[in-house]
Amino acid sequence: MTLNKAKILIVDDDIQMQRYISVVAEAEGYRFRLADDGESALQLLEQEVFDLVISDINMTGMTGVELLTFCQKNYADLAVIMVTGVDDRKTAIFTLEIGAYGYITKPFQPNELIINITNALRRRQLEMENRRHREELELRVAERTAELSRSREETILILSKAAEFRDNQTALHTNRMGSFCETLARLLELPDSLCNRLRAAAPLHDVGKIGISDNILLKPGRLTTEEFEIVKTHCKIGHRILADSTSDILQIGSVIAQTHHEKFDGSGYPYGLKGEEIPIAGRLAAVCDVFDALTSERVYKAPISISDALKIIHEDSGSHFDPAIVEIFLKHADQILEIKSHLSR
Ligand SMILES: [Fe+2]
Ligand SMILES: [Fe+2]
Repeated sequence: MTLNKAKILIVDDDIQMQRYISVVAEAEGYRFRLADDGESALQLLEQEVFDLVISDINMTGMTGVELLTFCQKNYADLAVIMVTGVDDRKTAIFTLEIGAYGYITKPFQPNELIINITNALRRRQLEMENRRHREELELRVAERTAELSRSREETILILSKAAEFRDNQTALHTNRMGSFCETLARLLELPDSLCNRLRAAAPLHDVGKIGISDNILLKPGRLTTEEFEIVKTHCKIGHRILADSTSDILQIGSVIAQTHHEKFDGSGYPYGLKGEEIPIAGRLAAVCDVFDALTSERVYKAPISISDALKIIHEDSGSHFDPAIVEIFLKHADQILEIKSHLSR
């Protein structure tokens, strides 16, 4: 919009003043419409797009201040100039404070009016450009933030896959762990931010297996007691790998790595934590990890049937698993199975 193509709404209950302003504005090439009071001004604003409102302060019915407030709230790109009598000086200053672009005291010279109109329109244009620029920046920041969090989650997933591959498991197991834990957390109505972090962090549960030697990890036969003791250290190793991170996802990852083999009755490892001493993230991961291991094929074993796996989860409620989580798990087993089939290819 060039400034002199601007469209002005002139609001005044004094018809002579209306005419005076409109003559000056028209002589400068501005388009204009007239309103005798606030109410008809609102109607015109609804029907047409204006760049500037020049409004009297003292009008019968809706006052100029009320009209200004309404415009501020509903028309972000609209500039408003107030026209005031000599006794309205205080009110005029007040209108500047609440967002008017200027005020003119009656009586005024045409020049004074033109200068005010030009200034108001220039300022409006600058503010509109600023706002557009700010919105563009905000959009770019939001895009970059989303990209960063995507790549952060991807990096975490790749790290977990690296650990899982060494253990003859599939990368899909890590993906499923994320989705299972997130789904259960949502069903338990845990906070949204925690649910999102669980999805990203649960794949890291076995990252500590990076620190277990291949001789043990890939041994085809049964492990000796000593060897199994070494395998168990993957919980503490995983915790050590992740614990120092300042990332909230890796922090939860370290908790899951440390506690996903704890059992509700205190018979798990590495610390023999009991009940709610085990963080909720670890209790969730325990159920999901066992269920997925039971129902997945590994080089050394065939999968067991879904119904047998659900039976085991049910039987181990309260001993291995948190009963509240098992209850939700079994009640919504259809959702878990849907993820399983979706993330099995
Ligand atoms: Fe594990
Ligand atoms: Fe696992």
